[in-house]
Amino acid sequence: KVLILDFGSQYTQLIARRVRELNILSEIHPYNKIPLNIEDYKAVILSGSPNSVRGEDVLHPDLSKIRGHKPLLAVCYGAQYLAHFSGGEVAPSNTREYGRANLSYVKENDPFFGLISKGSQVWMSHSDTIKTLPTNAVLLASTQDVENAAYKIEEEQTYAIQFHPEVYHSTDGKQLLENFLINIAGLEQDWTPDSFVDETVSALKHQLKDDKVVLGLSGGVDSSVAAMLLHKAIGENLYCIFVNNGLLRKNEYQSVLDQYQGMGLNVKGVDASARFLDALAGESDPEKKRKAIGRVFIEVFDDEANQIEDVKWLAQGTIYPDVIESVSATGGPSATIKSHHNVGGLPDFMKLKIVEPLKALFKDEVRRVGASMNMDKALLGRHPFPGPGLAIRILGDITPEKVRILQEVDAVFIDNLKKWNLYDSVWQAGAILLPVNSVGVMGDERTYEKCVALRAVESTDGMTADWVNLPYEFLQKTSNEIINKVKGVNRVVYDISSKPPATIEWE
Ligand code: XMP
Repeated sequence: KVLILDFGSQYTQLIARRVRELNILSEIHPYNKIPLNIEDYKAVILSGSPNSVRGEDVLHPDLSKIRGHKPLLAVCYGAQYLAHFSGGEVAPSNTREYGRANLSYVKENDPFFGLISKGSQVWMSHSDTIKTLPTNAVLLASTQDVENAAYKIEEEQTYAIQFHPEVYHSTDGKQLLENFLINIAGLEQDWTPDSFVDETVSALKHQLKDDKVVLGLSGGVDSSVAAMLLHKAIGENLYCIFVNNGLLRKNEYQSVLDQYQGMGLNVKGVDASARFLDALAGESDPEKKRKAIGRVFIEVFDDEANQIEDVKWLAQGTIYPDVIESVSATGGPSATIKSHHNVGGLPDFMKLKIVEPLKALFKDEVRRVGASMNMDKALLGRHPFPGPGLAIRILGDITPEKVRILQEVDAVFIDNLKKWNLYDSVWQAGAILLPVNSVGVMGDERTYEKCVALRAVESTDGMTADWVNLPYEFLQKTSNEIINKVKGVNRVVYDISSKPPATIEWE
């Protein structure tokens, strides 16, 4: 596998993904927390950084076990770092070096630039520039504005590039990573979804033996794929619990439960709708609503888990973005690791050990692993849905009648997205019930009814998002259908806010 040392670049995760796309496992670690088992990594990549090697906030990694011992690729800040502290010189650049550039010189017959020729487009993003190469370095490539765009220190197997091979706009970036990782570092491309399933299942068997494991299913992709892996490993010793909080989509509880049973999972459905709705009655503060749902979920889950005699483990569908400890832009690794929002705070008395079979995977990899286990495409392609469910899409207090109205509206919207083949191109969609009544006219009658907002966004990870430009005709038909079919609604609006400054959910 490949070690990526993070110096806080916004592109660090992209490097990890590009490496994984070559079927090679990669892991991100903060630059100052180099793993102790360094011998397990066959190559190392240094990321970019918002910091400067000339400033007071220079980040110093300890490369004593890496440089000269392993193939090393230094990107942007990494390239400047090696230059600045090994006999070269780094200075502020005179011209702005952002965006597209083309290679104007490429050293011939060097394996690092194999199959990449002069003219290739690369992506620059830096304000310092390498004026003089470090000791023993050989120039490998230049652009018009950046003479020292790539170099190598041959006897060390160290390569350095000023541009970013990981971004889409570096046209041959993937080829470059392939040249370095496969041709130079000799890594095998054996990290595939199938191999992941085989290795994980046998590791889980070894780890869990005959122990019992409890897992909370949410209906989403992550917990479902985690359950399938565990099911393959330990069969009936996996006890799944699927809680109906009364805030799921229309008919979702029954259909998802049926689907899980069809997959052969040992799953218990718990309909706790009344308990959740009771706890929410009269509450309209968004944070208090979330807290109430979290609390009741833990109570219900605990009650159920306690009925499983001698259960030892709690399994969670945590994925890699939740556990990466990254370096913050202000320098220094940020201490906070996000806790999994759905089953975050189980009380101590449960004393369960935690097992997280997906914690090395990105979301798209989770989907591919699910596909390699022949899981249902519709389940794997599902939009994300928040743990607190429709509660954070009903603004103000929650009543069973409001839940019913929103379920109906949401069902029309989502069904139509599917009918129009728009569902898969939208990252997430849903409806919001506003605490607003407005005047309308139906037939000859005056109405004074609820208003709903529709929201559809595109995103890759939910951190940033933009609204989707749905066809007017689709919006027109959907709006008509909602007002005609759903009693209590006489007005539909479409949310055209991006995140930031808005968020995806309204609460
Ligand atoms: P926001 O509203 O913060 O949402 O832009 C980003 C993504 O996170 C989902 N979300 C949640 N998921 N528990 C979850 O499991 C939660 O409490 C929660 N709150 C928001 C939201 O649906 C979107 O995909």
